[in-house]
Amino acid sequence: MKEWTREERYRILMDPMELWELHEKAAASPYRQSFHIQSVTGLMNDPNGFVWHDNQWHLFYQWCPWGAMHGLKHWYHIVSKDLITWRNLGVCLFPDRGDGYDNKGTYSGSAIPIGEDLYLYYTGNHRDADWTRRAYTCLAKLRKDGWTEKYPLPLFGQHPDYTEHQRDPKLICREDGYYILLGAQSKDLRGRALVYRSDDLLHGWTFAGELKVPGFEEFGDMWECPTIEHIGGHDVLLFCPQHLKLTGRGESVNHNGYIMGSMDWKTLTFTPDGQFHVLDFGFDSYAAACANNLENTDEAILIAWMGLPDVSYPTDEEDWAGCLTLPRELTVRGRRLIQRPLPGLKKLRDEKLSLTANEAGCYALPAAAELEADCRPGDMELHLFTRSDGSGGLNIYYSQEKHQITVDRSGMDVRFNREQGESRSRPLEDGLSHLRIFIDHSSVEIFVNDGDAVFTSRIFPTAEERFFHADGDMFLRLWTLKKAVTDRFVI
Ligand code: FRU
Repeated sequence: MKEWTREERYRILMDPMELWELHEKAAASPYRQSFHIQSVTGLMNDPNGFVWHDNQWHLFYQWCPWGAMHGLKHWYHIVSKDLITWRNLGVCLFPDRGDGYDNKGTYSGSAIPIGEDLYLYYTGNHRDADWTRRAYTCLAKLRKDGWTEKYPLPLFGQHPDYTEHQRDPKLICREDGYYILLGAQSKDLRGRALVYRSDDLLHGWTFAGELKVPGFEEFGDMWECPTIEHIGGHDVLLFCPQHLKLTGRGESVNHNGYIMGSMDWKTLTFTPDGQFHVLDFGFDSYAAACANNLENTDEAILIAWMGLPDVSYPTDEEDWAGCLTLPRELTVRGRRLIQRPLPGLKKLRDEKLSLTANEAGCYALPAAAELEADCRPGDMELHLFTRSDGSGGLNIYYSQEKHQITVDRSGMDVRFNREQGESRSRPLEDGLSHLRIFIDHSSVEIFVNDGDAVFTSRIFPTAEERFFHADGDMFLRLWTLKKAVTDRFVI
């Protein structure tokens, strides 16, 4: 694997055409997605600034232009009318070329419209000449004409009582004022969230205190991308605790999950009503962000990075990596979050395929498809991405005896991140009744029992791994899906 020097990682982008060949190379990859947002070149990670403004959805992603590595991060801008089809608009926030507050990266954050403009709250990642790092919470205005103006001074700098890991401002607008939630690390290396408050969106931000989450004082050494959402009458704290291991998740140390509970903004206490749940039971999902200004304040739409920190992917060799998940509608059932694909996704259905098996009992599996299964009680197995003789592939199976569904990717030809574990399971108390599976060229998202559990994973099938077969009492439907991302070279 390529070793990048610091100079290469933090190289300043002077001319978009420097990236033309990298884009051409990525665009020619068989693993380019057709209905998922993906990096224009290089690497993308977190979704940022997810918001409705000026008659369209705006979304940004963390973007490092030069290759499949985490280096100089920009905000790359994409827009959509319906959250299904997306258009590349180009870079919106560039890191400062001099010694400015964001000279080594415009890191994750959130956005809010004020009048005709869109305001972006982000982390300025600053490094001194001796590479000492400091974090600043910065503000920029994206004007209607498409130009971005950065505010000359940050809203606030890093808090002295915590380490330099303070980032990912999530703006929360409430009737009693405005809040910013930041992910942080205490000096004794515990994950924390910090709260800032102001009566004005653009000025006067002061430190309100540390978010108290009783019972979670020792839960990972850093919390990234925290947010508190109000969904179906419940408060939900979503965040990414780092450097802790969870049962059944291999050597993986970066997780994205949530705690249900109630938030008291006066005492800054989030009182949990239960344990930490992972958001996604698959292998590749992190840094989920929720849209900031839905009309109904009791609903939420979430989108996440379909990737993980500190791992590599097969497309690294092609000098690009990363895509986002499909946006999902969040609701609450019992003490769990339910994630459903957006209803509008049905628009992408193209042709309904009749299932004709080959002599080995396998069906052809298109590179972009939706597969739906109504399942009757009993064991079942679904082998996706097999060869034409039915061997290999991704195995999804349900055991009636254990009441458990498992997704196992160890049968794929291209194996990667094996230390994260190659199979993941989730108990299903009420059995398995339904699966809705979205397949793109290099990903699979499995919605179990109408959003009760989701397994999201990157997969990199070879040209031979284009079949599937099923065992068990189930009724299957399969559609090809239309393209919904344009993959245009816009910088
Ligand atoms: C999460 C994260 C954020 C940070 C960003 C940098 O993946 O590490 O905490 O702002 O990525 O790209």
